[in-house]
Amino acid sequence: MGIETLIQKLPKAELHLHIEGSLEPGLMFDLAKRNNIKLRFNSVEEIKKAYQFTNLQTFLDIYYEGANVLIREQDFYDLTMAYLKKCREDNVVHTEIFFDPQTHLQRGIAFETFFNGMKKAFSDAKSEWGISSKIIMCFLRHLTEEDAFETWKKAEAFKEEIIGVGLDSSEMGHPPSKFQNIFKMCLEEGFLTVAHAGEEGPPEYIWEALDLLKVSRIDHGVRCFEDEKLMDRLVREKIPLTVCPLSNIKLCVFDKMEDHNLKKLMDRGLRVTVNSDDPSYFGGYMNQNLIETAVALDLNDEDIKTLCRNSIEASFLSETEKEKYLKEIN
Ligand code: HPA
Ligand code: ZN
Repeated sequence: MGIETLIQKLPKAELHLHIEGSLEPGLMFDLAKRNNIKLRFNSVEEIKKAYQFTNLQTFLDIYYEGANVLIREQDFYDLTMAYLKKCREDNVVHTEIFFDPQTHLQRGIAFETFFNGMKKAFSDAKSEWGISSKIIMCFLRHLTEEDAFETWKKAEAFKEEIIGVGLDSSEMGHPPSKFQNIFKMCLEEGFLTVAHAGEEGPPEYIWEALDLLKVSRIDHGVRCFEDEKLMDRLVREKIPLTVCPLSNIKLCVFDKMEDHNLKKLMDRGLRVTVNSDDPSYFGGYMNQNLIETAVALDLNDEDIKTLCRNSIEASFLSETEKEKYLKEIN
């Protein structure tokens, strides 16, 4: 069996996916039309041409701009359903998605509008295709902790459907410590925590995410490689890293895929998973990430199985559900 066939066949979980980052240019155009919004692009090709980033911030600027076309519940349903269709194609059997409430609340969109749109899509994908989903609410770290508290209040009626909270957006200059009070409160209320750390930011941010935010996973985390003591701890405590290879290349965290440290992290004993982050902006969904990584880093069948196994083990599924998928992989 070729590596592509193996990747296609294995069941896997996606643990690092921003739903707003799955907005394909074609859908962006359709929604702009439907909602009477003027885009600064005249064609899908023009949009795609603009997707040339030099760092995280140059991407975020265009990512927040793109989200402006999402207005009605139906828009969020269509966005989420389009992503779940890709999951079906890639045999992603379970997904834990991030959403950015502040991006929408700031534009006057009500919490129930985006939340109910997403939820309906999750429910349809579950009943039609058996794909399960969990929802993680992210706080934008370039905003204040006070704003995060306000947002948490607005989520009150929806908390039963939210499994945890995360931290995303501009990393440099916005360390996890900035959000230690809101995370403490979420933890006390029984929510799981994750955080983007060590994508562009230094290893110290990963230490903070572990010590202050008590995260169950580190999103990205590739810069842990600069700190032996930190890697020892991540290995010892089996903290998963949700790595996003195509994202890292597009945002110039590594110059080219051959330079990516994913295989070195695996060999060091870290629990690495592969994810697509913002697939419509970075050039590929789950299987494309696995394929390009496998080719560039010469991963073998066992490496691919390990990555898929890790994705299930690192998920927030129950032990019984994990067992079912792990059996399939083995
Ligand atoms: N990093 C930080 N914030 C984000 C990302 C990312 O990769 N994608 C969407 N928001
Ligand atoms: Zn991300």
